Amino acid sequence: MDNMLEGKVALVTGGGRGIGAAVALRLAREGADVVLTFQQDERSADETVRRIRATGGRATAVRADSADPAAMVAAVDRAAGRSGRLDVLVNNAGTFLLGPLEELGLDAFEQTIAVNVRAPFVASQAAVRHMPAGGRIVNIGSNMAERAVFPGFSLYATSKTALIGLTKSLGRELGPRSITVNLVNPGPTDTDLNPADGPDAATITGFTALGRYAEPDDVAATVAFLAGPRAAYITGATVNVDGGFTI
Ligand SMILES: NC(=O)c1ccc[n+]([C@@H]2O[C@H](COP(=O)([O-])OP(=O)(O)OC[C@H]3O[C@@H](n4cnc5c(N)ncnc54)[C@H](OP(=O)(O)O)[C@@H]3O)[C@@H](O)[C@H]2O)c1
Repeated sequence: MDNMLEGKVALVTGGGRGIGAAVALRLAREGADVVLTFQQDERSADETVRRIRATGGRATAVRADSADPAAMVAAVDRAAGRSGRLDVLVNNAGTFLLGPLEELGLDAFEQTIAVNVRAPFVASQAAVRHMPAGGRIVNIGSNMAERAVFPGFSLYATSKTALIGLTKSLGRELGPRSITVNLVNPGPTDTDLNPADGPDAATITGFTALGRYAEPDDVAATVAFLAGPRAAYITGATVNVDGGFTI
């Protein structure tokens, strides 16, 4: 353990698998008591908790649909209830609905905005009620907010671009309380959402400078840095962890 987050309480939305699980594992390894949310995949959430506990860390999984604002607030309050504070919020859970403009219905629009935009807003609002000076909010966006290389991403890119504005404005607003707010934009990362052996993987890889997909832990390392004390003077920033996809 690096112990950079010893004594801290962290909430990671969508922390049961993929990038969120890697973040939960990293934060726990650095000493944080981690609460992770899941929506459907209870087995993966339980497995991530088991892995954290197996190495001496502390973690709990709670079911919370990010599309439900009341569930988001309840998850935040539950995390804060563990020791009366919430030090780190990672807004990671994301939905990935793609398609041609004419085929994306209002239900897809509403689900995408609810999970990718409203949930980070609501969770941040609830979290700062419990967040002391030194608190950290890290949003997970996407490289697709910066570079539109494929058709069909209009809705997803719109939602992830909104996080740039949310991150900057909350960084400004919460700065006087010594709470930082930053955005990590992953590029292609090997998860269920975008498997490195998927049908379009070779094309996607071709857009990176490094010529490979990220592992979830590549993203988690940056999130953990931003969540820790060494990032105290970084706020409102967007950090691309995308292997050069957007250069
Ligand atoms: N992988 C990439 O290439 C890539 C690139 C750029 C950005 N990102 C972003 O990184 C984040 C994590 O993506 P990932 O690749 O790790 O995806 P993933 O493997 O598909 O995992 C998605 C996670 O989000 C959770 N989730 C989805 N909808 C939810 C809801 N309504 N309520 C609560 N949790 C919900 C899932 O929970 P369950 O396990 O319960 O289903 C799961 O934990 C997302 O915000 C995504 O947009 C990913």
